[in-house]
Amino acid sequence: MNSSSTHTILVVKSVYERVTEIFESLSDLDCIPVSADEQVLSNKIKAADPVAVVLDVDRYMDRLYEAMTDQMLIARFGVGCDGIDFNKASSNNLIVTNTPGVLEATVAEFTVFLAGEVLRMPGLSSNDLKQGHWTTHMGRELHGKTWAILGLGGIGRKVSQILSFGFNVKVHATKKDITDKEQIKHRYGVELLSTAFENVAPKADIISLHMPANKQTHHFMDRKRLQQLKPGAILINTARGALVDEEALYDLLKSGHIAAAGLDVFEKEPYQPIDKKKDLRELPNVFMTPHIASSATECMRRMAQRVVQNIRLFIRGEHHKMDIVEK
Ligand code: GLV
Repeated sequence: MNSSSTHTILVVKSVYERVTEIFESLSDLDCIPVSADEQVLSNKIKAADPVAVVLDVDRYMDRLYEAMTDQMLIARFGVGCDGIDFNKASSNNLIVTNTPGVLEATVAEFTVFLAGEVLRMPGLSSNDLKQGHWTTHMGRELHGKTWAILGLGGIGRKVSQILSFGFNVKVHATKKDITDKEQIKHRYGVELLSTAFENVAPKADIISLHMPANKQTHHFMDRKRLQQLKPGAILINTARGALVDEEALYDLLKSGHIAAAGLDVFEKEPYQPIDKKKDLRELPNVFMTPHIASSATECMRRMAQRVVQNIRLFIRGEHHKMDIVEK
């Protein structure tokens, strides 16, 4: 670790560019934008001897962990840590932090806005109008519908509150471990709470995903589960692309079994179809955004402050106060 009072931090460019003013304003941390490419980043780590590396959602397989020492922190800008190999990080004694508690409301409201686009199509209508077409896209209401939240964590709970208390939606939800069932239902406005997909999703008009991506949840929405959804259901995914089998989703959207989907995340980002013949971009009933659910100025600032706080705590050795992610 650098012994001077200014510490070097490497920040991947996609993060640095979103909150440049914060990273440039820090007198104790010298923040250097770097490529997210694992090889380039690893070489830079060896050359710059940073105290921390701030990462986006990219996947890191091996070189990153070998380039780092236990005097360096992996600081995720965001909550999802599916790009990190925790076995490799822990065998190199590397601590990983993320930024919980600052983006839940942002992602939750985006989830509802994306469903709003799928249901009523204001964005599509605006584009049509600007291109000279005064057309009506007939939508569907949200009010009174049944919405299944799969994964009632921090984001799922906010989605539930918005829908239940704001839109009079009947919220059904799944949660991995359920304690204090009645208290959770009351607080977040959940009508039905279960650990089982089968008890919740097949009856819903709209289904949204809020689970972390890991080995257990890979293709959680596989062909079988997608087929179990009610005919005419709508799927919203603002969590991770890996949760959904995109080829199966394509088939079910094409057949109309799933009426429409709102997708902010994809198996490959930037989006590329898994099978070129099953390109989701060609389907009129798919609404796609480029992983922007947390991309609001206020949220980005909070995330940057949280990252900086974790780095400063790491420098001071106050590990117990950090947002350490254990896997
Ligand atoms: C965004 O996708 C995050 O993981 O924070």
